[in-house]
Amino acid sequence: MNSIESKKSLGLSGEIKVPGDKSISHRALIIGSMVNGKIKIKNLLESEDVIATANALKQLDVKINKVTQNEWEVFGNGIGCLEGSNPLLDMGNSGTGVRLLMGLVAGSDVEATFTGDKSLSKRPMERIIKPLIMNGAFVHNENNNTLPIRIKGNRIPLPIKYQSPVASAQVKSAIFLAGLSSLGKTTVIEPSLSRDHTERLLKYLGAEVITNQLPDLSWEIILQGMPELNPLDISVPSDPSSAAFPIVTAIITPKSEVLVKNVCINKLRIGLYKTLIEMGANIKFLNEREIDGENIADISAKSSSLIGITVPKSRAPSMIDEYPILAVAASIANGVTIMEGVQELRYKETDRIKAMAEGLSSMGIQTHNTEDSLTIYGKGTSSLIEGGVNIHSMLDHRIAMSFLCLGLISKKPIIVNDTDTISSSFPNFFDEMNKIGAKLNYI
Ligand code: S3P
Repeated sequence: MNSIESKKSLGLSGEIKVPGDKSISHRALIIGSMVNGKIKIKNLLESEDVIATANALKQLDVKINKVTQNEWEVFGNGIGCLEGSNPLLDMGNSGTGVRLLMGLVAGSDVEATFTGDKSLSKRPMERIIKPLIMNGAFVHNENNNTLPIRIKGNRIPLPIKYQSPVASAQVKSAIFLAGLSSLGKTTVIEPSLSRDHTERLLKYLGAEVITNQLPDLSWEIILQGMPELNPLDISVPSDPSSAAFPIVTAIITPKSEVLVKNVCINKLRIGLYKTLIEMGANIKFLNEREIDGENIADISAKSSSLIGITVPKSRAPSMIDEYPILAVAASIANGVTIMEGVQELRYKETDRIKAMAEGLSSMGIQTHNTEDSLTIYGKGTSSLIEGGVNIHSMLDHRIAMSFLCLGLISKKPIIVNDTDTISSSFPNFFDEMNKIGAKLNYI
């Protein structure tokens, strides 16, 4: 289990290569397995999470090959055509992988058992199991809604209308992946819109998906079952959640300027960037364009002075994975930053509210948290960040990377233990950050 020390670094500068988007990479493989024919996926994120999804699909008889670095091909078997005699699918650390694949299995005449690492085995699966049972899947759930869980799918699932209590793209996508094999319309209602990569990719490949806002301001998304999915190639843009680490680091480190090219700027993913701009950050979206159904831009960011703000609850779904790195930015801001409506953070790879509050407090940054909020009392300048602590990653890649970024501006180094988990989303984090001037060392 590797530990990394991060030390005060002078101005970070240059272009940094951020890997393909994790959400879109999982979906490209999974939805690719349902097209009629062969597709090529470019810039696939080759991280542990995504490889776990590729391996699970192979165990379900989908032919998948790596062609060259970050380029893969998937031979789709059509909708609902998986095979395998109850394979044990080890999904590692990946919440998205396990939940989406549960949906896929639920819409096929196949049985599979899902398992995962220590962190994934503690995460709640009831939110997925409940709608899939309504679809007609048989769920063998002996561990109080946690892994391992066995699912026996249904080749023609019922077309359900499901009101989700949480805005969760994992829940919505699992229901749609099952609903693809259904003969009717599958409807998901969410309290606010979660990331829509599944809907965009399905539409790009030829499916019919309609999104409407309802009078009570919730959202209804309707998928027509049994579409013909065309075998079109997919280019995966860079991940805005991974780009957040070098971008926030440049903003909080004096005399810095970085550029990240080809980033997904889907409006349901860029809440962090909106928030940073409101805090006073110098961030620019350049060269905006659309590729394979997603909006893309190059993002530049420069050192900036930040002020604390209140981040409204309504923004949470569009920046759900970015609160840990926002907490880092908030630590140097002038004034108080209040993050509202963030209870979902308690159910991620670790309880991220607790992990950030404890880690920051351990180095003298004042925080306050309630069940669904996190408040950070900013120091006003990077020169007042003490550092000098050891942080445990809690098997959470985003917690590990957030504290490593904070170490780059701290008076004394920060050591993060158990950093292997970073490879679940940003395998080259260490090398890429060091290339733009970060001082990260394995110890
Ligand atoms: C994801 C959805 C989010 C996010 C996760 C990736 C996805 O989870 O936190 O990292 O790809 O669908 P929820 O849908 O549970 O909010």
